[in-house]
Amino acid sequence: MRARKKHRFLKFFTAVITVTLIMLLALGGASGGFLQADYLEPHNPDYYRGFSDVRMQVIAHGIISPNSHNMQAFLLSLSDEDEDSFFMYCDPAKLLKSDPLMRENLCSSGAFIRYMEVGAQRLGLELAFDLFPEGEYEDVSEQELLEKPIAKITLTEGEFAPSALYSHMFEVNVNRSAYRKDAPDQRIISQLMARKDAAGSGGETAGEGGAQLYEGITLKFFTDPADVREIGSLAVRGKEAEFSAPEVAAEYLEITRRNEYQKNSFRTGFSAEGQGFKGFLKNALQGTMTALPFAFNTRTLEISQLHYAKMHADNTPCYIMVITPENTRAMQVKAGHLYADIMLHSKMYGLAVHPLSQTLSDFEKMDSLRQIMHNNYAPDGGRIQMLSRMGYPTEQYEQSARQDIRALII
Ligand SMILES: Cc1cc2nc3c(=O)[nH]c(=O)nc-3n(C[C@H](O)[C@H](O)[C@H](O)COP(=O)(O)O)c2cc1C
Repeated sequence: MRARKKHRFLKFFTAVITVTLIMLLALGGASGGFLQADYLEPHNPDYYRGFSDVRMQVIAHGIISPNSHNMQAFLLSLSDEDEDSFFMYCDPAKLLKSDPLMRENLCSSGAFIRYMEVGAQRLGLELAFDLFPEGEYEDVSEQELLEKPIAKITLTEGEFAPSALYSHMFEVNVNRSAYRKDAPDQRIISQLMARKDAAGSGGETAGEGGAQLYEGITLKFFTDPADVREIGSLAVRGKEAEFSAPEVAAEYLEITRRNEYQKNSFRTGFSAEGQGFKGFLKNALQGTMTALPFAFNTRTLEISQLHYAKMHADNTPCYIMVITPENTRAMQVKAGHLYADIMLHSKMYGLAVHPLSQTLSDFEKMDSLRQIMHNNYAPDGGRIQMLSRMGYPTEQYEQSARQDIRALII
């Protein structure tokens, strides 16, 4: 009798284990957990060595920069006649409904340039850039975006001067975890503030030198608890406003890559690691999003995004803003350049910088919140180009997808 019971229990136990294993394998398979993550190649510090043209080597450093919605919406043109320079354009095919004026993309191009500068310096080159050499856009038509480069980049022989920032470029850019309660102290804030006025120091700042490049731009830090509460609550309202615009919500869903297959195929967009998922949990989430596609829709995305927005608001001791005197295209690029510079320097202090652009966006449903932001935090005029939370992260994050730079060349 006992032997039969034991036998039945063993059969039941084996069945449970088998079903669990099959489910795990199915989830892992749906997630693509067994695939090689080709989309991470550009984060490899040796990636640039795969190119013989130094311009490509420099671009290989730019591609890992933070960029809006991870769309990497740039095109690069390298002429055969002039081997020392190349042109950078917005990619009109990647124009987003959430960024209808390509403003955030131009901020992203500034970050791209800042990363290229740090890379160039390591390669013994000096990088200079000329913004909008064919003039600024009149609109955002495809023709204009392809005719008017964001920048002409020129490389000349420089000094090999390894920047302290170099290794930080290969660390995760955006850590969206809860931050510790303590804000960076005044000494660190003063040192970061000084970056804006730093004169050109051997490529540590822009070719033009920080002081000229950032002229007129304001960098603000907010650590006062009342400000921190208010900005956090506006950011949560901004998230709600994003999901009140059906076309923006649908776009969010569309550019979220559900599994390793999609990440390897697109190499752009949002993915599970951006929210801190790793290992088993990442594969479980990706497997579920793939196996049950109907369960992952704009409503479930909204619920999770609001959850994170509130978590961020509750766990941020400091915000920073980059404000430009005018909202010109060149100013947008410079704002992104300064943001990337501050972000890289912040890493030296163990600080994370996480942009929260929702309340600054240019689509219609954001008009009133954008106005409130400007009334409150730029009352003397100017455009807030970047808002980011800053603090000491409490969790490790993983890197997200990047395209092979050959895909950006026209
Ligand atoms: C101009 C700009 C705006 C951004 N806005 C946001 C944002 O609103 N929310 C967010 O979580 N990340 C934002 N980011 C960060 C990007 O989403 C991030 O860089 C991208 O997803 C790739 O991640 P990674 O740089 O950590 O690899 C922004 C970055 C830039 C340069």
